Amino acid sequence: MMIVGARPQFIKSAPIIHELLKHRNVELKLIHTGQHYDPEMSDVFFGELALPSPTLNLAVGSGSHASQTARMMRKIETCVVREAPSVVLVPGDTNTTLAASLAAVKLAIPVAHIEAGMRSGDMTMPEEINRKLADHCSTLLFAPTQTAVCNLKKEGLGKATRLTGDTMVDVLHTVVPFVQLKQDTMLERLELLPQDYVLVTLHRPSNVDNLNRLREILTALRKVAKRLQVIFPVHPRTRARLAKLGAFSSPKNGRITFMSPQGYIEILILLKNASCLLTDSGGMQKESFLLHVPCITLRSTTEWPETLIGKANQLLFKPEMIPKAILEIAFNEKLKQTITSLRNPFGDGHASGKIARILKEAF
Ligand code: UD1
Repeated sequence: MMIVGARPQFIKSAPIIHELLKHRNVELKLIHTGQHYDPEMSDVFFGELALPSPTLNLAVGSGSHASQTARMMRKIETCVVREAPSVVLVPGDTNTTLAASLAAVKLAIPVAHIEAGMRSGDMTMPEEINRKLADHCSTLLFAPTQTAVCNLKKEGLGKATRLTGDTMVDVLHTVVPFVQLKQDTMLERLELLPQDYVLVTLHRPSNVDNLNRLREILTALRKVAKRLQVIFPVHPRTRARLAKLGAFSSPKNGRITFMSPQGYIEILILLKNASCLLTDSGGMQKESFLLHVPCITLRSTTEWPETLIGKANQLLFKPEMIPKAILEIAFNEKLKQTITSLRNPFGDGHASGKIARILKEAF
């Protein structure tokens, strides 16, 4: 039983789902908790990644951490008791990951954590709590990188750990042809030229829930927009906060284009052609590394330290530093050459095959 619920989980589990479906003697139940429910946060990924419809959607929706996680746990428990799976697969580090891990392990059903061992060292992030607890509930830990393996060993979890590589490399490889095919039309529709804009995605509570901080970020983006066009697909959490600041009706935005959350192929087109990325997403730090696009991460820590090599990704916390940092990397050809030559530490694009084989042998 694979349990997913939030946008990044649909992406990173897609190649594993396809791999498992190839095996005739594997019966896969795909459970969607409903943590993300807007079509552009959920359905679009099932379509683009050709995923089967979930066996069940638990429709838990949004809420505070405790109430959302508790609602998920109750519904997942019923579902796990009814289906009695051999193993519950939990990808990533969202509240869905935590709820599924806790519900399954307490029913003595083995848990396998996909993307195990990531650590930012920052326990104020809900994801850090979720991923640590999920790891400690799991019988099998699929680690995407050598750093993750070391982290798990340090916590006494070495025996359960398997280095598989990152399934996000697998899925990226499968969609690159579609990115090539569709990019000209999309850029033309948006009247964008390659290398002529900065892509921005922000959704972490630490950046967007505090309106003073978000206002400072917006001011910084307006400064950037005087030199370079800003393309900003807006997560629903961020949209609500930006609306409170009147951002969408302000004439001061200049060349900032706010748009709805994008599908997977669309966001990769925007990323691949950007001069640089400003983000607080975990997944996009990796994707920009893999697509050789320089990245500024608006956080003081990262669970993906490999991306910091060669300054491919730079951590930055103070919003007032954003304009200088962006303008330094956006036109830096030497940096771009360095990034292009970096070794990929995230695996060879065959992580899902390895995960499916290990699961078949174990169960
Ligand atoms: C969640 C994950 C985060 C991941 C992100 C990707 C947790 C703790 N966080 O954060 O790790 O990077 O997903 O997007 O699980 N909302 C909608 N429509 C939706 C979903 C959410 O409008 O389809 C709004 C609601 O107002 C909700 C808010 O977004 O309260 C936040 O959603 P939530 O699922 O709680 O967390 P994310 O910020 O999306």
